[in-house]
Amino acid sequence: MTRRRVLAAAVFIAAISVLSCSGGPAVTAEIMNHSYSRPDEVVTTNMFLDLDVDFDREVISGTAAFDIKNKTGADKLYLDTWALRIVRVTLDGDTEETSFELGDSLPVFGRPLAIDIKPHTKMVMVQYETTADARGVQWLKPVQTAGGKHPFLYTQSQSILARSWVPCQDNPGVRITYDARVHVPAGLMALMSASNAKEETADGVYEFSMPQPIPSYLLALAVGDVEYRAISDRCGVYAEPGMVDKAAWEFADMEKMTELAEEMYGPYRWEQFDVIVLPPSFPYGGMENPRLTFATPILVAGDRSLVSTIAHELAHSWSGNLVTNGTWSDFWLNEGFTTYFERRIMERLYGRGRSEMDAMLGLKEFEREIAEEPDSLDTALYIPLGQRDPDEELGWAPYEKGYLFLRLLEERYGRERFDAFLTRYFNTFAFQSMTTEKFVSYLKKELFEGNEKVMKELKVEDWIYKAGLPDNAPRPKSDRFEKVEAQAAAWVKGKPASELRTKDWSSQEWQHFLSKIDQPIAAERMASLNAAFDFSSANGEVQRSWLLKVIENKYEPAYGELETYLVRVGRRWLVRPLYTKLAETDDGMFLARKIYRRARPGYHSVTVSTVDAILRWKG
Ligand code: BES
Ligand code: ZN
Repeated sequence: MTRRRVLAAAVFIAAISVLSCSGGPAVTAEIMNHSYSRPDEVVTTNMFLDLDVDFDREVISGTAAFDIKNKTGADKLYLDTWALRIVRVTLDGDTEETSFELGDSLPVFGRPLAIDIKPHTKMVMVQYETTADARGVQWLKPVQTAGGKHPFLYTQSQSILARSWVPCQDNPGVRITYDARVHVPAGLMALMSASNAKEETADGVYEFSMPQPIPSYLLALAVGDVEYRAISDRCGVYAEPGMVDKAAWEFADMEKMTELAEEMYGPYRWEQFDVIVLPPSFPYGGMENPRLTFATPILVAGDRSLVSTIAHELAHSWSGNLVTNGTWSDFWLNEGFTTYFERRIMERLYGRGRSEMDAMLGLKEFEREIAEEPDSLDTALYIPLGQRDPDEELGWAPYEKGYLFLRLLEERYGRERFDAFLTRYFNTFAFQSMTTEKFVSYLKKELFEGNEKVMKELKVEDWIYKAGLPDNAPRPKSDRFEKVEAQAAAWVKGKPASELRTKDWSSQEWQHFLSKIDQPIAAERMASLNAAFDFSSANGEVQRSWLLKVIENKYEPAYGELETYLVRVGRRWLVRPLYTKLAETDDGMFLARKIYRRARPGYHSVTVSTVDAILRWKG
């Protein structure tokens, strides 16, 4: 049983006892779009949050007040919750108390909160607290931060974790504007996916406003000892004091990226574009919270080698945050468009050579996935999730197959027409959600101009609904990778590492090199390789490629480095392959479990559930 299932079971038992105390009938759970909310009946339009962040108890408590629109004269408002303690609910102010019921808990979805409302109710206020099982909140001890002195908190709401820290209609098809007031201990800053302060306040009270309507998965909060550095009038970084200048240097191209993005696809609509560098347990490379991208500190590599993730999160300001996947099965509409857009930004800034290397590395990852399970619909663009948890790792199809599909359209119609089409798409559907079906009909009408034959010619249905990669997929090409392959081949044949031509290689080239030397390597050659190129102090992505070699070749001198890495880094995409590789042998499994025992308490819940499954972890 995964940790998540254990938690769900515990909540389920709690649900039964609550229901039997109240004696009322169980709320019937109707799940649509991974949510209990019924926005066709009653929809929330605006929220005011008043929250207190208590680091001693590790609890967020307060109220969420919603403006609602009752479309059908319904007598209940349904909200999603996960392991929340609901204290009290009032209507149209804070005095008129109303009855409510929490339904049974289901794994993945949590519990529906059914609130009794009147036909004329305009506002519903929920007083609540988070509990220790809040999957979307990570509380960090001072030792888990760069500074080591202050605690830190961050939330991660995508895909369906917002409900674990705010009761809400946790459905990407519903958008709300919001304002918030957050109380934190003096000396710490609170930041949200909204307008943010640039300096600490004396009393620890912060006020926020998000006037553009957003889906719940973009609700975000971070609290810690951070400072701000401006890069331009509208771009800047927040990070812990010891990191903030390095981060400002690393991301100095943010303003340029934003200008290039605007040139291609129209105005940036969120006013501010800042990044907060989080502690290394953050389970993603980046998360596109509006106005304030959340990022792993691994991106602060010292040589701007990993800034494509910043371009990626920026691109989501159009694809995702402006035009939003209607359901989690349509995730490729967020990620595929964003990967395409990211590479267009990277190409404009650093040249086609760089963006093609990124595309090749992405394609290789995706091809590996296809090879593992050729018939899996996880390699289709539209992934029929049903009741599956969208926070499981869904793989690279939404990103890489999505990217290639858009590139196919670009190559068929030319950049000028395709860019005009995309700009029109973003403008037409701004602040709305989009499904795959709706997109295809827009595509047929606007780009194919009603020419049905193009659907067949381009194999659109195969791309979207079938597993694998259609044979008309564009092929990224990189001369630089060809040179890298020649050097890898020479090394495999015995040429000493110190004689290879590796001058000015980028981290993409190093990753490619390491993936190309995949035959058994003796310990002395591993040692001379690392002596020549010092992979142990390379950026976190290259270091991961090196550590995969360390595991494959049972290179014990680097086991200490492997352990340090796995204990420090919580980004799921980086640690998952290392644990997977370790789990392939008995010795490796033993070592993995030993390391994981130390690492697990510092990981975020989404990384924990992935690694628990790989290591069949029972505690
Ligand atoms: N929105 C995603 C992160 C995400 C995906 C969170 C699914 C929760 C569920 C973000 O934009 C993303 O794609 N991040 C990538 C980086 C990117 C450059 C591939 C990551 O974290 O690796
Ligand atoms: Zn993304």
